[in-house]
This record gives sequence, C-alpha cells and structure tokens, in this order.
Amino acid sequence: MKRKILFLGVVISIILLVGGVFFWWLKSNDTNRQKSGLEEVIKNVNVNNGDEVLNNKVEPNPEVLALRQEKYYIPEFEDRYLAYRVAREDWSWTQVVTYVNASRDKERYIDVAGVDFSKDVRVLIGKYHYLGTYEPDDLVELSSTYNAGSTPYLRREAAENFMKMADAARLEGLVLKNVSGYRSYATQEWLYNNYVARDGELLADTYSSKPGYSEHQAGLATDINSVDESFKYTNEYAWLQEHAVEYGFIMRYPEGLEEITGFSYEPWHYRYIGVEDALKMKAEGITFDEYYAYYIAR
Ligand code: DAL
Ligand code: ZN
Repeated sequence: MKRKILFLGVVISIILLVGGVFFWWLKSNDTNRQKSGLEEVIKNVNVNNGDEVLNNKVEPNPEVLALRQEKYYIPEFEDRYLAYRVAREDWSWTQVVTYVNASRDKERYIDVAGVDFSKDVRVLIGKYHYLGTYEPDDLVELSSTYNAGSTPYLRREAAENFMKMADAARLEGLVLKNVSGYRSYATQEWLYNNYVARDGELLADTYSSKPGYSEHQAGLATDINSVDESFKYTNEYAWLQEHAVEYGFIMRYPEGLEEITGFSYEPWHYRYIGVEDALKMKAEGITFDEYYAYYIAR
C-alpha cells in the first residue's frame, strides 16, 4: 500500500513538473512575439545587413528602406541610426538622422575627436570636436570702426568678410561691431572657470565652451554688439538674419535647437564658414552640426 502511494506521488510530481515547464515555454514564446517589431528589425538588420530573408529571397526591410530615403541619411551611420532608434521607437527617422548626424548618440566632452583642420574655415568645433591649444596664424586686428571689445582679432578671411558685412549694414544706418572675437585657450579657460564659479559646471556648460572647444579659439567666431538675448529685438539682428550669410556668417546657436547644437540660444554669436556654404546651409534650413556631417565631413 505504502509503495503504491509513493509511486502515485512520484507520477503526480513528474506530471506537475512537465506541465510547469511546458506552461513556462508557452508563456516566454508569447512575450517574445510581443516584443517590438522594431527590435526584430534591428536584429534582422544586424544579421542580414538591412535586408530580410523572406521566402528564400533577400528583401529590403521596409523600416530600413524608409530610413534610407531620409534626405540627410549617411550610409556609414546606418548602424548608429538603428541603435539610437531602439530606445526611441516613437521618434521619426528624420529626428533620429538629425540627432545622430549631430553626434547626439555620443557623449559630450567624452567621445571626442580632434577637429579636422583640413576643412579650414569650414571646420566643425564643439563638444565632440576638440581644438587643443591651437592658435591661428593669420589673425587680423579689427579697428575701432569694427570692434568694441577686448578681443578684436579674427582670422584674415573672417575679418575681411566681417568688415564688408559691417560696411554694408552701415549703408542702411546700422552698426555692427565685434565685442568678442578670437579668444586664446587661456582666455577661454579663464572665462569658463569664472562661469563655473558663478553658476556651477552644469549650467556653465549650456552657454560656455570648455577651453579647447570654442569656435572663438579658432578665430572664426564673433559676438556682435551685445551678448544679451535682447539683441534679438534690434534692427541689427533682423538685418543679420537676412544678410549675414551673404558674407559667409551663420548664426551658430539658434533658438529651440539647443539639443542639436549643444548650446543655448545665442542671437549674437556668428560663425564664419564661407559664403557658398553659408548660403547653402540657410537654404537647407539645418544647423551647422548637421550640415557639416552631410556636406563637409564626407
Ligand atoms: N559661448 C560659446 C558657446 C563659447 O563659449 O564658445
Ligand atoms: Zn560667441
């Protein structure tokens, strides 16, 4: 009798165990099926390089095809677009391409490369692109007609175009003066450290470059007339919005695009990149970070 009960107990335990394992297997299969379509896409992309094998035929994946239709899609960045989208399923590909082209999938001041000096006045400088202790060798001093600050130097080509621009504005009764031009590594360091002491590093980083990362150190940036947001209400600002590009200058940190440019709105900060690119960039309506990735870096 005792042996019978023991035998029955063992049989019931085995049935329960097998049933449990079967139930668990069903359940985990279900969860896998519920996993996002996009995750599957990414998996397939990684395996098949963007193409899906369907009925033994290699078919382009519709999601990836859509990505490849994006205007500013850069083929070498495809893996980065896909990786960035994984945690951002509600983003459009346009958004993803914008952010990745502007290096936002990298860590500011950590994933850093040296600037590409071969691009000359079109060089990209910022939180992912380090100048080191570079000093330009063709700085030109702006006279008091064009300068009202303590750093009156710009690289020659930028200075010449700044003067042309200011002369054109003057014909319309407007005054454009540089209030901050070339700043050496040491000057930027001093400035930045003062801001950090006043506001803390987190806030200072939203409006001031760390030393070695400022466009001012390249002699290609000029702050015009007033480093106060009220500058945007002046006639000079309105004139610059329309005409600065004709002299090769772009407003580098536009309003509302802080996430892309890495800096808060600076209506006074103009960057010289050359006339042709400035005109084109304005026509495209994108930031310099995006423009550089798509039109200059490659
Ligand atoms: N204010 C600009 C971002 C600079 O410090 O370079
Ligand atoms: Zn500036």
